[in-house]
Amino acid sequence: MCGIVGYVGPRDCTDVLVSALTKLEYRGYDSAGIAVFENGRIEVAKSKGRLTDLVAKMEREGKPQGHAGIGHTRWATHGEPSDVNSHPHSGRRVTIVHNGIIENYKALKQFLIDNERTEFLSDTDTEVVAQLLDFYYDGNPVKAIRRVLHEVRGSFALGIVFADRPETVYAVRCESPLIVGQGVGEAFIASDVPAIIKYTKDYYLLEYGEIAVLKNGSVTFCDLHGRMVEKELKTADWDEDSAEKGGYPHFMIKEIHEQPTAVKTTITPRIENGMPDLSECGITPETLKKVNNVFIVACGTAMHAGMVGKYIIEKYARVSVTVDIASEFRYRDPLIGEGDLVIIISQSGETADSKAVLNLVKGTAAKTLAIVNVKGSSIAREADMVIYTHAGPEIAVASTKAYMVQLAVIYLLAFEMAYAKGKIDEGKCQRLTAELMRIPDVIKETIEKTVDQCQYISTKLITADSLLYIGRGLDYALSMEGSLKLKEISYIHSESYAAGELKHGTISLVEEGMPVIAVATQNRLLEKTVSNIKEVKARGAMTIVICDEEADIDPDAADYLIRIPKRYEVLMPMVATVPMQLLAYYTSVNKGNDVDKPRNLAKSVTVE
Ligand code: G6P
Repeated sequence: MCGIVGYVGPRDCTDVLVSALTKLEYRGYDSAGIAVFENGRIEVAKSKGRLTDLVAKMEREGKPQGHAGIGHTRWATHGEPSDVNSHPHSGRRVTIVHNGIIENYKALKQFLIDNERTEFLSDTDTEVVAQLLDFYYDGNPVKAIRRVLHEVRGSFALGIVFADRPETVYAVRCESPLIVGQGVGEAFIASDVPAIIKYTKDYYLLEYGEIAVLKNGSVTFCDLHGRMVEKELKTADWDEDSAEKGGYPHFMIKEIHEQPTAVKTTITPRIENGMPDLSECGITPETLKKVNNVFIVACGTAMHAGMVGKYIIEKYARVSVTVDIASEFRYRDPLIGEGDLVIIISQSGETADSKAVLNLVKGTAAKTLAIVNVKGSSIAREADMVIYTHAGPEIAVASTKAYMVQLAVIYLLAFEMAYAKGKIDEGKCQRLTAELMRIPDVIKETIEKTVDQCQYISTKLITADSLLYIGRGLDYALSMEGSLKLKEISYIHSESYAAGELKHGTISLVEEGMPVIAVATQNRLLEKTVSNIKEVKARGAMTIVICDEEADIDPDAADYLIRIPKRYEVLMPMVATVPMQLLAYYTSVNKGNDVDKPRNLAKSVTVE
């Protein structure tokens, strides 16, 4: 949801800003811009389109030359993507880049107009902040920033330069993430660590209301009240390679291949003597024993991981689980309290709606547990307990490895909870855990076995206007994610449906040639699902069936059969996900789409 960067140091500032923005394009990519001090003056270059459009424009018109500046890559919220709405935005003496949203920008704009500030060029909320900063600027930048912070409502982070403070970059964080990188004789700001990892691994995490001043290659911090703050320097454990494509044509396919390692790295430290052990995450058997109800709340793919979680936790721990979309949960006055555990799942740990749920729950007697990939992110820091998934940076907008590790963690949690509550004995818990430990190899094997076939079948999907994903039980939960994956990157309409529910309405959509992808990995439900597959086949559907290598499927039911390795039924979601990811990926590739940066989307959605 927009990426911001800044640099102060001896390198060519434009090059650093562009390089850092390349790593943040996953956050938004409908326009880009930079502002650099050149011979004491702020030079701005900005353009609608991808970062490459900005680079091409600078090659044509000249690139700003200097050693301090700020940059931005945008996901439009206020005002369409256009040159004029692109960041940076300026007041008379102030230029800013902004990530997030200013909720009261209309009132602030009116205030400025009432005070004879009428020179607004864009439709953005950001320009209002630039003008407001300028309005309050009396030669003391930090004072002006603090004043503005008291007036502006919303969730945002800003990078700021003042025309009469050359070679200096200011930054402030209010909710939206922002880190400050510290190199030797140089300093950076960025929305995310991978943006600057090429230059330094050392960074500070700005907290709510903190202001950073980058000057002469070093950084000072103060809080909302102007008091100096000493901050702890952190060191990133991600390396540059993990934020690069490493020979793959797209991040998405690279990340699909990284899944075995990601799962292994996530579960191994949480298994002791063959049993799940989440004590390093602050989760003890005593905590789990006391849980009466579980709520899993998340957005997008993370919510789909929660759907699988519902089946697993209910099956083994015998605790009722409600799964909800964060933007719905927060406004429906949920019934939560003592004995409830609210699990927030989020790759980024910054999703605005999920964060709002966390804040809502914190005012109750319920406990909160975050399952998060990005270390130090807001959700991770604010929850009572946190289980970090160790997927490494996920760059492709369409989530793959993050989903996979979210599932892995949910299995561990479900098994430990079931054991803590006495619903399964030690032997059973060890057997389930041992099966989970085998999954990384099975994922690898599944990729190898299905990749060519998925590539081929995808050529049959590219002409479809619409398709259906069907399944029962865990296969239904899983098909929700399969369907989302396909539609978000191929732009083909797709719906997931409980296979048994089709006949109550949706089957009327089925016509000659419509692809229906059926997931049938649950033996107990196999016959029923096969009947539903035959029902759509009889109405002309082209059926693609994902099932294990032993499943007895009537050859007439499937036009294409994707056979995957057979493991414990309960763990099959982690196996069956793989061909669904591959089908989505190759359909997008075959359609010539921008796989990693699908239209209208962004990876980290920090607005409501
Ligand atoms: C966006 C992304 C999705 C992601 C969702 C939740 O919509 O495009 O891929 O699943 O946000 O993100 P989170 O970081 O909270 O998992």
